[in-house]
Amino acid sequence: MTATRGLEGIVAAESKISSIIDDTLTYVGYNIDDLTDNATFEEVVYLLWHTRLPKEDELAELTKQLAENADVPQAIFDQFKTYPLDTVHPMAALRSAVSLLGVFDEEADDMSPEANYRKAIRLQAKIATVVTGFSRIRRGLEPIAPKPELGYAANFLYMLHGKEPEAIEIEAFNKALVLHADHELNASTFTARVCVATLSDVYSGVTAAIGALKGPLHGGANEQVMKMLSEIGSIDNVESYIQGKLDNKEKIMGFGHRVYRKGDPRAKHLRVMSEKLTKLTGKPELYDMSVKIHDMIVGQKGLPANVDFFSASVYDSLGIEHDLFTPIFAVSRTSGWVAHILEQYANNRLIRPRAEYVGPGMQKYVPINER
Ligand SMILES: CC(C)(COP(=O)(O)OP(=O)(O)OC[C@H]1O[C@@H](n2cnc3c(N)ncnc32)[C@H](O)[C@@H]1OP(=O)(O)O)[C@@H](O)C(=O)NCCC(=O)NCCS
Repeated sequence: MTATRGLEGIVAAESKISSIIDDTLTYVGYNIDDLTDNATFEEVVYLLWHTRLPKEDELAELTKQLAENADVPQAIFDQFKTYPLDTVHPMAALRSAVSLLGVFDEEADDMSPEANYRKAIRLQAKIATVVTGFSRIRRGLEPIAPKPELGYAANFLYMLHGKEPEAIEIEAFNKALVLHADHELNASTFTARVCVATLSDVYSGVTAAIGALKGPLHGGANEQVMKMLSEIGSIDNVESYIQGKLDNKEKIMGFGHRVYRKGDPRAKHLRVMSEKLTKLTGKPELYDMSVKIHDMIVGQKGLPANVDFFSASVYDSLGIEHDLFTPIFAVSRTSGWVAHILEQYANNRLIRPRAEYVGPGMQKYVPINER
């Protein structure tokens, strides 16, 4: 038995949900470029959960269900108020809150497909209220209930900022949600599948996935990109800062990918949005700095940007606090996690690989006073 480090190249599941083939990402066979240009996030949620695009009435029904289920038990907001709000990371708060949502869901352990689908809706609906509610509570504000007449993307920004967003903000945020919705067997999705393959419940699967997404090698990278841009401060500092990191053999967040070789197809959409939005908000230097970093990394390391690089300046332009970038990733990716969880349940087998043992050979127990 020989281990493959990081399971690189290992095919660990069959899936009908999304695919990465020759650097092209598709959801159920639809190119991500096509969906980003045309679909609402709700349509994509339906697509991932039903493996087909919705008809008009089906989309209306899902949209209605998401709006109707967006309320969050007050106990969760009360919990937030007890947290050390100056220091707690919103991903830690989110991880705990999703676990708590499971505590309050009477159907949490009902494993019927119907109950699991209802939980999927509840989770997708509530997670936006949880993330925005946490942000507001730590700013000393009360959470805002969603407006049923707004779509998912618009509602998120509304619940966060307390005012209805502009059309261009809704468009950009919707695209970002579409782009982050699913991504084959990425680390957090694999985590979710491993968890529920024990026949554990949906909330456990998503809680586990949030834990995996939190790390800076996965979803946490977008926040780190913004931290880097803030540290660099101005375009004149880009060269020395990046060169210093490269000379120290440090990783530059937002670059590289386990699967893509020519480039992450999601990055170009975010780059376009970043250029547009940073101009609009009077911070074009953020985009210019990003492009300069990008050209240096591509030029010297041959590593293209991934989804996290330009999403940082997009979210910043939407007035989103930097440590909410990864929770927003989780809000979108919940759709993919849940799709994979339902797919796993539908054809389940325990996921239990082996380890290559590289420790000492057989040893005889030595009594403690003889060691
Ligand atoms: C995404 C990532 C984890 C993929 O990791 P991986 O497939 O295990 O690749 P490795 O970490 O083994 O990297 C392979 C080589 O490329 C280099 N490399 C990879 N990503 C790099 C980056 N962002 N900056 C600088 N060098 C990088 C590594 O240092 C390594 O070089 P070496 O062979 O000389 O040691 C990795 O590219 C990374 O850490 N990127 C930064 C974090 C990030 O943006 N994550 C979000 C992913 S969507």
